[in-house]
Amino acid sequence: METLFIGKEIIELDVVDSTNSYLAEKLRNSSCSEGLVVMAYFQSAGKGQRGNEWRSQPGENLTFSIVLKPKFLTVNNHFILSKLISLAICKFLANKISDKVSIKWPNDIYVGRKKIAGILIENQFQGSKIENSVVGIGININQTNFGDLTTATSLKLLTHKEYGLKEILKEIVKYIEGYYLKLKMSSILSIEKEYLENLLFYDEYQKYKINGEEQLGKINGVMPDGKLKIILESGEVKLYDLKEIEFIL
Ligand code: BTN
Repeated sequence: METLFIGKEIIELDVVDSTNSYLAEKLRNSSCSEGLVVMAYFQSAGKGQRGNEWRSQPGENLTFSIVLKPKFLTVNNHFILSKLISLAICKFLANKISDKVSIKWPNDIYVGRKKIAGILIENQFQGSKIENSVVGIGININQTNFGDLTTATSLKLLTHKEYGLKEILKEIVKYIEGYYLKLKMSSILSIEKEYLENLLFYDEYQKYKINGEEQLGKINGVMPDGKLKIILESGEVKLYDLKEIEFIL
């Protein structure tokens, strides 16, 4: 089955600085329809979370971005978009591999203890509403050599198969559209529930580095603005943002 709008139009680029930057620029200069996808075989300045660079071997992995226009979402509940995108990637991967796939808060997808995908969502607001959202996704597909990066994996390393990037992209956008339509139909509670079921370390005591200090805590939820809700050993309930808490894997 075809999608209704996500990936109906796919711009395929050999090289670009960043697919997110490409779409942000396009949104500034012209009108873009919701669901427009841009994929690139090589990004010369791929952007990761927290100002990091996203590096990917040319032609081996999927690096793409999607324009969404979730005007029904506000600044305060923007993180639901990240939840549904994470879930879509998670479900796509779970359908391909038998190892456990999980979402590592806030924006990573892991297989076991290794990262296979990352998400970078950049929103443009109109008042308190999201006007445009550029959803950038990097998924390791056919790359098998990550150099000294021992915490990365790919679909090929896990399944010993080679994949066509465009075919994989078309499969993933179906999952994304499915969850996005679910959100639009107000199925927010079922998305929240499924998200927690797939969240790494949910409801398990683990060591975290919190404001520079190692502490035991268990994840109790993720707030609509993306903050991580942790129950500390003392029973205290705290909310943390990305700068304050680090996972110890
Ligand atoms: C992260 O894990 O740090 C997020 C990585 C997001 C990478 C993707 S690749 C496609 C899109 N374009 C970019 O410049 N970044 C995102």
